[in-house]
Order: sequence, then C-alpha cells, then structure tokens
Amino acid sequence: MVVKPISSGIESFELSLLKNVISEKYKGRSPVCYLHSYGCQQNVSDGEKIKGELERAGFVFCEDEESADLIVLNTCAVRENAHERVYGKLGELKHLKERNKELVICVCGCMVQQEYVAEKIKETYPHVSLVFGTFALPSLHKMLYEVLAFRKRVFNISENDDPRIYEDVPMVRGSKFKAYVTVMYGCNNFCTYCIVPYVRGRERSREPEAVISEVRQLVREGYKEITLLGQNVNSYAYGFEKLLRALNDIEGDFWIRFMSSHPKDVSFELIDTIVDCEKVCTHLHLPVQSGNDEILKRMNRRYDTKKYLEIVDYARSRADGFSFSTDIIVGFPGESYEQFCDTKAFVRKVGYDNIYSFVYSKREGTRASKLEDNISSKQKGLWLRELLDEQRETVEKLFHRFVGRTLRVLVEEKSKKDGFLTGHSYENIIVEFEGDESLTGSFCNVKILDAMNWALKGKLIDQI
Ligand code: SAH
Ligand code: SF4
Ligand code: F3S
Repeated sequence: MVVKPISSGIESFELSLLKNVISEKYKGRSPVCYLHSYGCQQNVSDGEKIKGELERAGFVFCEDEESADLIVLNTCAVRENAHERVYGKLGELKHLKERNKELVICVCGCMVQQEYVAEKIKETYPHVSLVFGTFALPSLHKMLYEVLAFRKRVFNISENDDPRIYEDVPMVRGSKFKAYVTVMYGCNNFCTYCIVPYVRGRERSREPEAVISEVRQLVREGYKEITLLGQNVNSYAYGFEKLLRALNDIEGDFWIRFMSSHPKDVSFELIDTIVDCEKVCTHLHLPVQSGNDEILKRMNRRYDTKKYLEIVDYARSRADGFSFSTDIIVGFPGESYEQFCDTKAFVRKVGYDNIYSFVYSKREGTRASKLEDNISSKQKGLWLRELLDEQRETVEKLFHRFVGRTLRVLVEEKSKKDGFLTGHSYENIIVEFEGDESLTGSFCNVKILDAMNWALKGKLIDQI
C-alpha cells in the first residue's frame, strides 16, 4: 500500500506535558529505563524507536531491571513459549514493584496487540501500568504522561486505521556499526499458522526517499552494515530491486542485507540485483517452512519446492559463494513422518548455511488453530532433533567450500568465552579468528583455515 508519511519531528504538546511531570516527579534527575525486546529484528527496531521517543522525554537507559524507574517489555507473539517467557518475567517483576512502589512497568509489542492477552494482563498483573500495541507508538508521550501524572493504568491496543507511516522517529540504536532500517510494516500473506498479520496489520511501505536518506545518514555516521527489514521485503510497494540499486549507489564502504524474503515473490531479477550490487551481500534468508508440497499448500505459502529450488539453482549459477538460510516449522497439524522426512531431504538438497527451526505452536485466531494439533510435543521435539542432526552434518561439509579462501568479515565482538574475534562474512557465515579488540566494527580480510559445524575458523590477513 502506498501512503503519505507524517513526521514526528516537532515537539508536541504531550511531550512538553510529559517533560514537566518527569521533572517534578524525578526532581530534576534523569529517569532510568530498562527495555527488552523479544522476537524478531522488526521488534528490536521498534524497541530502538521506543527508546528514541523516551530519550526525547529525558530518559536514560540501563542494562539491569533493578536500577530502572521504567521497565518496558517489548513482546513477541509468534509462538506460545514467547508468551510464557513474558508471563514468567511479569511474575518476577511483581517483587521489584513491591520494593519500589514508584516503578512503572510497561508491556508493549505484538503479544499485547491480541485482546485476550491485554485482558489477561489487566486482570492478573495489577503491577503493570502501561500496555500498548504495535500501532500506538505515536501516542507514547501522551500515554506515559497519563500514567505518571494521574497514576492511571493505561491500555491502548486499538488498531490504528490511519495507515500512514510516522517518519523522523528518533532512534537509540543498539550498535554503532550495524543498523536495522524498516522498509515496510505489516504483512498480507496470512500463512495459516502465523499470528503476525493479525498483530502487525496490513503491509505499508516507506517511501524510497525516506529509506535512502536514513541509510545515507547512517553511513555518514560510520555504520558498516544496514539490514533492511520487512515481513516480506519482496512486496515493497515501490520496487525492492530499484531500492537496492539506489542504496548501492550511496557512497561509502558498507554492506546491505535484508530480511525476510518470501519465496513466492522472489524473482530472478532480485538475484541479479544482489549479484550486480557489490554492497548487497550474496545471502538470502528464504524461509521454506516445509519441504513437502502438500504441507506448503496447507500452510498457504503459495509456492512449491520446485519454484524454491529454481531460485536456489539460479542464485548459485550466478555466484558460487551464494548462501541461503531458512526457517522451518516441524509438526504442522496433520504432518506425517514421511512429510517431515521430505523436509529433511530438502534441507540436504538445498544446503543451507543456517536454519532456524521451530516446533509448530498453535496461535489463537489463525486458520491453522482450527485444525487438530495432533502431533504430541514429545514427537515434535524428536523431529526437531532429527532435523538439527541432519543440518549439522550438511553444514560441516558445506562450510569446507570456504577453506583456503579469504573472506571479508565485519568484526562484531571479542568472545568472552575463548577470546576470539567473531563476526559475519559477506556471505553471512560466522567467522572466528585471533586479533585485537580494537578491530571491532571494522572490515577485515580473514583467510579461512578450518570449518566447524557452526562457524569458520581463520587467520587475520589485514584490516580494510
Ligand atoms: N515474515 C517472516 C517470518 C516471520 S515469523 C517470513 O515470512 O519468513 C518467523 C518464523 O517463525 C517463521 O518463518 C516461522 O518459521 C516461525 N513461525 C511463525 N509462526 C509459527 C507458529 N505458529 N509455530 C511455529 N513457528 C512459527
Ligand atoms: Fe507470517 Fe507468512 Fe507473513 Fe511471514 S509471510 S509474517 S510467516 S504470515
Ligand atoms: Fe516479530 Fe514476534 Fe511480532 S516475530 S513481528 S515480534 S510476533
């Protein structure tokens, strides 16, 4: 959907009210916020925006809950265990609230966008004062003002029917060299198992100019890796390939990644664009979900394994280091062991450098929730283990294609466990090597000496 953006740049009346109440309540000191985002990168990015809006109001941030005046849990709804983790955390926070009556606890994000969850929190966790869904960020200052000034409990989960996108939202980013840039919000695909379209609304694309100027600014600030985000970036309303080419033209030494892609919408033109644009990394996160066509149909994925393999083959014919990663669900309602074995065989056939596999989890309100979830969790767990064993064997062989080659790596951190520097290569493979911590945040050439079943081991050649 194409819609005109609105800007959040100007200081609103609500923001000045909030600043006043903050200055009275905290007697001139900066209040401290602890924020944790669960779930996907999109949610992490939303968390960075929430922090940006809080910073404008005068908040500073901390890494531990004990020293916080405001605790924000930015939640995910994609699987049942995501819910359980949040309820567990809310249980723990009750004790903190008993010790510090002034503590404000807030729950936001995808999970509370579901009415029954917001209702449950209202009833069961009276120590939670603010609950807001994925559409409410523009009213954050107003909601927080009401909580602080009137000690009200505020619940705002209404779906915003204004589809415009708020631009110029300030962000407090989690990294100085890797940045997430959302290109589209929402999802229209309604895969039968998935809650995302219900909690994130319909697809909305940001205007290319807004994306390009944000990336240009990030590169100016020294960011080395930009990851474009959307639930299905291939349906970006203004042409995703065109956007990639425009971003590739921005001057500077940086990488562009993106996720996720939907196999039904990936074209050879996308592969050509990735290969032609030197800044766009030769890696595709392409969730397959299942290697069985009947299950794919019942998941409403709208592609088959043949179409998927055509993309893989074409990409590998264009660039031999081309890397694929994927998401897989095991134990979809009615799935037979034979159908699960098709998925295992498919994983071997494609040769993924990384897979994220999940056991099926019934989500209230989705189409699949009406199907009988007939596979026991023990069975699903066994299948998951089988799949991971398969993947471990496959990946070690696959990684050997890199041994002896020199890969460009963005150094991310020095591992506390074994003292190695770690980072991801252009192809998105984890690489470990010895070197000084000062290399963090820079590109290095690393000669690959060995392959493990989760990463490559190498030797530093030079910093570039
Ligand atoms: N938009 C992205 C993924 C969003 S959710 C895409 O289409 O690829 C991330 C992953 O969670 C999905 O790819 C899927 O593998 C998994 N997932 C989603 N709903 C699930 C459910 N009900 N049970 C188990 N896994 C699920
Ligand atoms: Fe969920 Fe499918 Fe949309 Fe991905 S594309 S968010 S799996 S509905
Ligand atoms: Fe992401 Fe979870 Fe929401 S995967 S979009 S945070 S439901």
